[in-house]
Amino acid sequence: MLNGRRILLVIGGGIAAYKSLDLIRRLQDRGAEVVPVMTRAAAEFVTPLSVSALAGQKAYGDLFDLTDEAEMGHIQLSRAADLIVVAPATANLMAKMVQGIADNLATTLLMATDKRVLIAPAMNVRMWEHAATQRNLKALQDDGVLVVGPNEGDMACGEYGHGRMAEVPEIVAAVENALLNGPLKGKHVVVTSGPTHEPIDPVRYIANRSSGTQGSAIANALAGLGARVTFVSGPVTSELPGGCEIVQVETAAEMLSAVEAALPADAAVFAAAVADWRVASRSGSKIKKDGSGKLPVLEFTENPDILATVSQLKKGRPQLVVGFAAETDDVMANATAKRARKGCDWIVANDVSPETGIMGGAENAVTLISKDAADVWPRMSKTEVARKLAERIVGAISDG
Ligand code: C5P
Repeated sequence: MLNGRRILLVIGGGIAAYKSLDLIRRLQDRGAEVVPVMTRAAAEFVTPLSVSALAGQKAYGDLFDLTDEAEMGHIQLSRAADLIVVAPATANLMAKMVQGIADNLATTLLMATDKRVLIAPAMNVRMWEHAATQRNLKALQDDGVLVVGPNEGDMACGEYGHGRMAEVPEIVAAVENALLNGPLKGKHVVVTSGPTHEPIDPVRYIANRSSGTQGSAIANALAGLGARVTFVSGPVTSELPGGCEIVQVETAAEMLSAVEAALPADAAVFAAAVADWRVASRSGSKIKKDGSGKLPVLEFTENPDILATVSQLKKGRPQLVVGFAAETDDVMANATAKRARKGCDWIVANDVSPETGIMGGAENAVTLISKDAADVWPRMSKTEVARKLAERIVGAISDG
């Protein structure tokens, strides 16, 4: 599955562009988000309206579309994708890619990206067999560009041979292969997320305002880089991440057991807002008003600290343990002390004062605290925080 993955689809100008409409749908069926970019020639074959209607978002066409402040810049657009797919990749587009020509939005994005690129060439058989195209194909492959197809068959121009664009299921399979064999391939990461619910009696519980949005985004980003992710989540209404093994729990004690059962892992990211205390005087039946006016008194006991427990494991500690510090006061000082006290490697610190709108919101402003550094990240979407964190995790645990 491609849940949570974002694919930038560059549609080139060829008759096979009609297949790109189906490609958008099939990638979405697998859970991916498709951001379409069309060359001017592509718009002669399929309309931007059909493309944007299917993609459910704007079909970018012109570099100057992006000059509006409200739009993403071309650098951001190319970076915000997990993979760039060029389908159909015409002979002209391939040649421009080889030469580094950036004369429209599509080619500029291809120059600006730091992500992998998959092309699905489509052209007349003579153009495909031409020495120039074959030279360009080799050059692109040498540059690390992934290629799917073309296939042999009848062509729209009436000829027969190599040059038909790969069929949509083949392109989808190539996309999955490219995304699932990322830099965290073979790595196992445990992510905790959401709040915990600590029962008072069979119908009441103590909870907190965590939505699980940041945890889900982190799991998605790690899975997007090829990691096997075990996602241990408290009760949430937000969307669960795709492509992960999901373990749903309710209490802190259950969360600890689920994490221990999921180990060994190469890394663990504890994004859950675990309740510090549970009700020790938990009642087996619903607590009722007895008419005497006597108020119930709840007694608390401390919950296990999952982050500290895993950080301090003598045997089987993950290579990298990351905790979160949601603070309302003295964020840096508290978070730095927390890192040392719990024994984790990194703390992602954030200010969850109500006026920040962070708890339960779509954005986050964090500082990544490690033993030797504190990196302040500007306020950005929780998805971007997740991507940045996942990239840092690659740097810390990948073999490559
Ligand atoms: O101590 P505090 O709750 O502020 O610590 C926050 C960090 O510790 C988070 O990473 C959270 O997931 C983790 N934690 C935990 N188990 C607890 C309490 C917090 O894993 N019982």
